[in-house]
Amino acid sequence: MTAPLIDPFHRAIDYLRVSVTDRCDFRCVYCMAENMTFLPKKDLLTLEELDRMCSTFIGLGVKKLRITGGEPLVRRDIMTFFRAMTRHLDSGALKELTLTTNGSQLERFAKDLAAAGVRRINVSLDTLDEAKFARVTRWGRLPQVLRGLDAAQAAGLKVKLNAVALKGFNEDELFTLSEFCAERGMDITWIEVMPMGDIGNEDRVGQYWSMRDVRATLETQYRLTDLAESSGGPARYVRVEETGQKIGFITPLSHNFCESCNRVRMTCTGELYMCLGQEDMADLRPALRNFPGDDAPLEQAIRDAISHKPKGHDFDYSRQRADGQVSRHMSHTGG
Ligand code: GTP
Ligand code: 5AD
Ligand code: SF4
Repeated sequence: MTAPLIDPFHRAIDYLRVSVTDRCDFRCVYCMAENMTFLPKKDLLTLEELDRMCSTFIGLGVKKLRITGGEPLVRRDIMTFFRAMTRHLDSGALKELTLTTNGSQLERFAKDLAAAGVRRINVSLDTLDEAKFARVTRWGRLPQVLRGLDAAQAAGLKVKLNAVALKGFNEDELFTLSEFCAERGMDITWIEVMPMGDIGNEDRVGQYWSMRDVRATLETQYRLTDLAESSGGPARYVRVEETGQKIGFITPLSHNFCESCNRVRMTCTGELYMCLGQEDMADLRPALRNFPGDDAPLEQAIRDAISHKPKGHDFDYSRQRADGQVSRHMSHTGG
């Protein structure tokens, strides 16, 4: 049996997030600048290379694979990749194959995803108001995403909404969004906005709304009970006693959860980032490309990278830098 991936702080790494494209059909104001320069398509790992990378990680004990972007479903032919990963679910090596998406392409792909073995998906949605949605995503159309949610649920996928909490933007929708999810049997997770990537003149610092305040607002109308359970992600959950619904909070700034971190993230060009909030990474491409028939060098490169995983991030809005304390965009490593 191969030894599991253990980092220097004795954390077992069994969750890989893979960004399959840095492109997106939206331009969310907290995530991207309006004019983005994306990587030339020739720099991306091919679908075969993505398969080999992911399969190697799975061979090293990765149990959960989350496909992200950019928007993963805008990558050409991405269903071929999802279908290829089904074999690892069938063999029992992989426990969960999932994705985080903006929902724009779900109407088209929900059934295929379910057929490939995807069971749960996370969909990013910050507002149910069409005009506000158009403003926050710049290029997105709400009805398309709502149709995507319907298609996902019709295909039997369990859906969780991710909403970035933005002061002065969706403060007034805390209850509307919660009820929308409760009615549809969906969970919802609120996320504190993180200082990643240059987003132009947008005021991410001014929009920061802490989860402590989000929770306090929810408690004006709901009784919340803390839950011990975890989905293997960074969210902490509460149950709303009035509706039975689960609400999650992701609090990288007000309370970091790095001590229980179980994940690493790979970019669409094969760079492995050991922490969302740090710049250090290892380029896995040489080990992948220079040894086409031999996975041992790639396995060694992965082990070496994980032996350098840092203890945690050091996001801090008190430093008041609007341009992002981590220079790469969230879409580069997929959140
Ligand atoms: P599940 O718990 O399986 O639903 O997944 P998840 O919360 O890990 O995945 P999701 O893609 O929905 O993540 C939601 C957001 O949480 C991400 O986009 C990031 O904004 C944030 N997040 C996820 N992992 C980390 C992490 O390791 N560190 C920090 N600071 N934020 C993270
Ligand atoms: N801070 C917090 N969340 C962000 N996302 C994108 N950029 C940021 C940011 N700066 C979220 C999206 C999506 C997930 C992949 O990351 O809304 O839910
Ligand atoms: Fe695209 Fe998601 Fe970034 Fe919005 S948050 S621009 S949907 S990658």
